[in-house]
Amino acid sequence: MFFQHLILFATIIITNCQEVVILSNMLESANTPIKIIEADVLLMESKFTEQTNRPTLQLYYESLCPDCIEFDSSQFRKVVVLLHEYLDIHTYPYGNARTRKHSDGTVEVTCQHGPKECYGNKLHGCALDIIANATEALLFNACMIQQRSNDESADKCGEQMSIAVDLIKECAKGKKGTDLLLHYGEESEKVGFNYVPYVLLNGAEWQGKDLMNDICAAFKNPPEPCRHEY
Ligand SMILES: *[C@@H]1O[C@H](CO)[C@@H](O)[C@H](O)[C@H]1NC(C)=O
Repeated sequence: MFFQHLILFATIIITNCQEVVILSNMLESANTPIKIIEADVLLMESKFTEQTNRPTLQLYYESLCPDCIEFDSSQFRKVVVLLHEYLDIHTYPYGNARTRKHSDGTVEVTCQHGPKECYGNKLHGCALDIIANATEALLFNACMIQQRSNDESADKCGEQMSIAVDLIKECAKGKKGTDLLLHYGEESEKVGFNYVPYVLLNGAEWQGKDLMNDICAAFKNPPEPCRHEY
């Protein structure tokens, strides 16, 4: 009994010390905005369980918002290319759309930039569903979003990346595409953001300037791609 208590007590001390050291290290580099520090704390906590959990990166966006296009095709794409092995990345193509369920059972989705954006979001959702390699799917969407996320963009990106796009376009035009859009809508409403692109790093809102840099800074042992300048 005595030893059990002693061990428990010692464990608590060790755990607390680790946290204190990490927090004080972070406070030394105090020129970073508070929001990033909060995200870092969460990423830091994940280090204690890094064997089982990779840090998560979640992106909520819509296909035609200019800031989403810019973010997805540059900063986000870079992280996907360089760090996909080290992160658990999820994207939610829905953004500021709204879903209304009518009393007759029909469901209506209204997208911020109109029906073309809904179709674009469906293409993105279908790509995530159909392309077997999740990283390839993210890169395919990052390619489409630069070209207005329409059928022509799917064709071009498919050709460029050697991905068959017939099933993806078919999906976006049918029930599956709508179901996926509704699914991403439900996931987005759970989070309840009010701007896009909206980014969560290990569940905490990220509003920094340099995503790659902030993710790298939060690893205890930064992975190899973090040790280079890009
Ligand atoms: C998935 O695609 C990425 C990016 O092209 C590649 O690095 C990775 O090896 C692929 N994974 C599998 C399991 O094929």
